Amino acid sequence: MQLSDARILLTGATGGLGQALARQLADAGAHLLVAGRNTPQLAALTNALGAGHSSVCAELSQPEGIAAAAGAAREFGVNLLLNNAGIGGFGLYEEQAWSDIEMLLATNLAAPMRLTHALLPWLKQQPEAAIVNVGSTFGSLPFAGFAAYSATKAGLRGFSQALRRELADTDVAVIHLAPRAIDTPLNSEAVNALNRALKNQSDSTELVARQVVEAIRRGRGESHFGFPERFFAWLNGVAPALIDQGLAGKLATIKQHAGNK
Ligand SMILES: NC(=O)c1ccc[n+]([C@@H]2O[C@H](COP(=O)([O-])OP(=O)(O)OC[C@H]3O[C@@H](n4cnc5c(N)ncnc54)[C@H](OP(=O)(O)O)[C@@H]3O)[C@@H](O)[C@H]2O)c1
Repeated sequence: MQLSDARILLTGATGGLGQALARQLADAGAHLLVAGRNTPQLAALTNALGAGHSSVCAELSQPEGIAAAAGAAREFGVNLLLNNAGIGGFGLYEEQAWSDIEMLLATNLAAPMRLTHALLPWLKQQPEAAIVNVGSTFGSLPFAGFAAYSATKAGLRGFSQALRRELADTDVAVIHLAPRAIDTPLNSEAVNALNRALKNQSDSTELVARQVVEAIRRGRGESHFGFPERFFAWLNGVAPALIDQGLAGKLATIKQHAGNK
């Protein structure tokens, strides 16, 4: 999609990746409706972006927030929904509170699905439209210590693929992006320590935002960012037992860091 023609609802715009995306998409000529939960932060972001951009404050784990964001999107004339809002969830599954797991499901999976459901009839009326879902490597390479988070991102990946196939005869593209670790506040100190211990690479928000912008420009359906994560995600698809073995060797380290949360 030509970004100069794009009118984008960007969720999670006040977060680490969201702010970099907002800047780069605006620089590329897109008009942004930025969504978040903190009104002063949204106002500061909209001011920094300049004229032609707007904001909506919406708690996306709640139906009222979905309705507010979808209503503002129609008013703004959105033709691209960028589902970027998300929360992390590191910890051993049995030790996680069910309320925290429910919040993960509501924010990372139900919210993008509900926003898509609310906006799809509108998007289908646009000459060109796209739904862009920010997933994670863990959606294709589910990881010990991230069972619930991996489930949300695997769900988002499956949803994106099925919907892309269902909308193949329309002008609505469905794009799914799977970054590896990114340097943002989403990762707790325990996650950062785990990544250092496992020698997992972490990317800057600017780099990932550039990759997202490029994927949108090219209209690529699926993009996995980062090597060797891309390779291991592929391997998990064809030979998951090999990944089971590899992660078994890292389990003691993962448990140690999960215990230090
Ligand atoms: N960081 C990583 O290592 C990593 C790796 C792969 C994929 N990702 C994905 O990248 C996306 C962006 O994450 P990030 O790293 O930029 O995280 P972040 O810095 O923590 O920002 C998260 C954003 O989501 C918003 N948000 C969270 N819960 C919300 C809710 N219930 N309703 C509305 N908005 C909500 C936050 O709003 P507030 O400002 O109001 O809290 C914030 O704007 C997420 O989907 C994440 O899963 C991240």
